[in-house]
Amino acid sequence: MNPTIELMNARSSTRAYDPAPLSDAEKQAILHATMRAPTAGNLMLYSIIEIEDQALKDRLAVTCDHQPFIARAPWVLIFVADYQKWIDLFAVSGVDRLPGVTHRRAPGPGDLLLACSDALIAAQNAVIAAESLGIGSCYIGDVLEQAEEHAELLGLPNHTLPVAMLCFGRPAKPRRRTPHYEKHVVHKDGYRRLSAEELREASDELAQLHAPRGFRPGIQNIGQDVYERKYAAGFTHELNRSVAVWLERWQTPEG
Ligand SMILES: Cc1cc2nc3c(=O)[nH]c(=O)nc-3n(C[C@H](O)[C@H](O)[C@H](O)COP(=O)(O)O)c2cc1C
Repeated sequence: MNPTIELMNARSSTRAYDPAPLSDAEKQAILHATMRAPTAGNLMLYSIIEIEDQALKDRLAVTCDHQPFIARAPWVLIFVADYQKWIDLFAVSGVDRLPGVTHRRAPGPGDLLLACSDALIAAQNAVIAAESLGIGSCYIGDVLEQAEEHAELLGLPNHTLPVAMLCFGRPAKPRRRTPHYEKHVVHKDGYRRLSAEELREASDELAQLHAPRGFRPGIQNIGQDVYERKYAAGFTHELNRSVAVWLERWQTPEG
């Protein structure tokens, strides 16, 4: 292997941080590597919000499904899918004078997906760049929840959406590499649904990986475990409610 692949192989999410701040040089190096990520049409359809205000960090630790370690992260970045900056540029660029342009449309779901792709690909560059400096990180998907409060807290206009938050800091203790289940992920020449036999086998293997000491009372297998703990959990209901609000805002032209 080479050092880059070894680094990626050794990475795991970091949730306990050494309180020492990152240096400005480290932050700049990570941000530069972040912005070198591939981006659709080279449009940079994202913005990054650095959370420096401790009171804001404290609030996000509550609104992002009560995860106190967020408040203790030395550096926090929010990756925002952002078409607003282009919509604003279109407005001052006289696009209405172009032949055939009768009105400026609001961005649609395709624009959103591209912007989210851009933001997340950039975020992952940040993860790897940080890791190369000995700085761990953890994604916070829950920043997609509480759309109304997060839009207000971060001053987000309609054509933006906070698709991920990243917490950074040096690991406070040695990390254990998280096992990942790599079977049935890669398909050849088209998608193939798993057979009942393969699903049963995967269920057993996943249980060994994720719950080697067994499940909590009343839970018999990994399907029941994930269904109850993730898919049907309260935070997932909030996530789906909130994302419907973000989608509505995204497609609504501003007054
Ligand atoms: C989109 C996304 C959202 C995530 N949200 C959270 C989160 O809110 N809280 C958390 O502790 N970890 C979060 N994680 C980290 C995952 O739990 C972690 O990546 C997964 O368990 C695999 O572990 P590893 O990163 O150590 O390999 C998130 C990861 C991703 C990619």
